[in-house]
Amino acid sequence: MGVKNSLQAFVVLLYMSCCSSFYLPGLAPVSFCREGNSTDNCKSRIELFVNRLDSVESVLPYEYDAFDFCKDENERRPSENLGQVLFGERIESSPYKFYFNKNQTCKMICSKVYQPKVNTQLEFIKKGIQLNYQHHWIVDNMPVTWCYDVEEGQKFCSPGFPIGCAVAPDGRVKDACVISSEFNKKDTFYLFNHVDITITYHSGNGENWDGARLVAARLVPKSYKHPSKDNLNCEAHPMEIPQELTSKLEVIYSYSVTFRENNTIKWASRWDYILESMPHTNIQWFSIMNSLVIVLFLSGMVAMIMLRTLHKDIARYNQIDSSEDAQEEFGWKLVHGDIFRPPKKGMLLSVFLGQGTQIFIMTFITLFLACLGFLSPANRGALMTCSVVLWVLLGTPAGYVSARLYKTFGGEKWKTNVLMTALLCPGIIFADFFVMNIILWEKGSSAAIPFGTLVAILAMWFGISVPLTFLGAYFGFKERSIEHPVRTNQIPRQIPVQSFFTKPLPGIIMGGILPFGCIFIQLFFILNSIWSHQMYYMFGFLFLVFIILLITCSEATILLCYFHLCAEDYHWWWRSFLTSGFTAVYLFIYAVHYFFSKLQITGTASTILYFGYTIIMFLIFFLFTGTIGFFACYWFVKKIYSVVKVD
Ligand SMILES: *[C@@H]1O[C@H](CO)[C@@H](O)[C@H](O)[C@H]1NC(C)=O
Ligand SMILES: *[C@@H]1O[C@H](CO)[C@@H](O)[C@H](O)[C@H]1NC(C)=O
Ligand SMILES: *[C@@H]1O[C@H](CO)[C@@H](O)[C@H](O)[C@H]1NC(C)=O
Repeated sequence: MGVKNSLQAFVVLLYMSCCSSFYLPGLAPVSFCREGNSTDNCKSRIELFVNRLDSVESVLPYEYDAFDFCKDENERRPSENLGQVLFGERIESSPYKFYFNKNQTCKMICSKVYQPKVNTQLEFIKKGIQLNYQHHWIVDNMPVTWCYDVEEGQKFCSPGFPIGCAVAPDGRVKDACVISSEFNKKDTFYLFNHVDITITYHSGNGENWDGARLVAARLVPKSYKHPSKDNLNCEAHPMEIPQELTSKLEVIYSYSVTFRENNTIKWASRWDYILESMPHTNIQWFSIMNSLVIVLFLSGMVAMIMLRTLHKDIARYNQIDSSEDAQEEFGWKLVHGDIFRPPKKGMLLSVFLGQGTQIFIMTFITLFLACLGFLSPANRGALMTCSVVLWVLLGTPAGYVSARLYKTFGGEKWKTNVLMTALLCPGIIFADFFVMNIILWEKGSSAAIPFGTLVAILAMWFGISVPLTFLGAYFGFKERSIEHPVRTNQIPRQIPVQSFFTKPLPGIIMGGILPFGCIFIQLFFILNSIWSHQMYYMFGFLFLVFIILLITCSEATILLCYFHLCAEDYHWWWRSFLTSGFTAVYLFIYAVHYFFSKLQITGTASTILYFGYTIIMFLIFFLFTGTIGFFACYWFVKKIYSVVKVD
């Protein structure tokens, strides 16, 4: 049986993903041996890579090279996927290189000298410290974490660490300066020019592989004013950078590295300590339980109301029908001659629905893959790459849905329809991206998409997505328009005066509340992961929330649609789209609230960028939820009008 087979395949997939019995390319484990014992399969040199720096107080990420830190002489950049480039990740090699299981203490990397003149490079570092920019280092495809104590004896492991910290002119100690009482001079910057790196490894004893594997990399940022290049002192006073330089300033960068063996940590679960230190999981379960209770309650209500009312309605109608003389009709039944009357602006609606379908399928597949662990944070940029590629490949359903609905609405301008489906919303998003990219370019941020990538995206859009959309539209127009169970009258019926609650706008506004109520906790974590750079890994939860959103959007729209039909208002096409699409407006309001309450973003450029990205999110979410509501309502309307036989 088909169902049984696919169920089995699903279970096998789940099993494979949870037991890590296979690895994705690029994520395979690497073995390390001591210097002198290295072979092709066993490296002795451990390379540290540096990623772009980012900040919670600014939307602009910067490349490591934008700052005057120690650079690798023969710098290499591992090739990056589309998702990484779009997210502004820029990975490059670093001068921090060490050998496996060879402890080092207080080793110099490089030194930089600044003269007491105006010095743009030092100013840029100071600005970075002021805005609390964070380093993101990578060892063996793992983030190097900085673990520190938070309240209640818990440890938080952050995948980044600050450049330095500052003490304000009024003596207020900011950000990371709280870690030591030595950072106490007013109006001074402290640079973290030293790192104590600890690498934990599994020696491979009792396992079926040779060599050792790295299971954790941690560091502690330190600040030391080394006396001179030949005389490093890793117990010295902190490295101060005064507000105004009065004499020559020499900054010496150094590091120490310690190797620790720990055979209780499995390689496959080496990310767990980072994820476990994040305090969200319980809140997540709580929020899911909460949403589920809401959903169950709502579904129960909807089902009850539907069944009882509909049942009563249908029974009453049939009764009337059978008793010959009854001509009195009521409620939703009255509008049967208008219910499938094509909507105004059917062109725009069909275009929205086509693109909404594309986004819906894309989201579903992406989340499903993420849920199976294919797009874990270890697989950098995979999530974004996957969704972009899927979107491009899903042009055909968009064209098909849009064309088929447009034909059903009786539209004739099929060329305009196809072109709009292929170009409208992607065009808006691309234009938005382009404007933001100009700002990012101007600021020299690493998030600026390189020209080549921009051309590649355009090529994918026009070379693959647009032709696929045309293909879908061809099939959509070729097919007959969708058949409806009841015929449409020639003359439109007068809509009676509506009460406040059945007027269009209040209904639409109410419709978005319930779906939004189910997702906003998850939304908080997603916004955190985007803007506060916290790692997002709870795709299982996200998938559940996706299903919950699907159900609440459909139910809320069906419910409101039914009330409106009972009030003899048959303009349901646009309304069902807007009712659930209104969830996106709440999302936008929430993002504005988040901006003002949770973020400390300063500067016009950052603010513009924040809202630029938010508008893109809004648009995508609007199409996504609107489409869900529309199809739920369409299904419902067809259902009830086919149950009641009209002639
Ligand atoms: C290389 O490995 C052998 C055993 O496999 C060991 O005896 C030797 O000490 C190792 N050499 C170094 C430099 O660690
Ligand atoms: C490195 O230092 C750690 C901690 O001090 C120690 O346990 C380990 O044995 C040292 N490793 C080597 C190769 O000396
Ligand atoms: C190894 O790691 C585990 C889990 O983090 C920890 O509980 C244990 O104390 C560590 N063992 C050693 C020898 O450090």
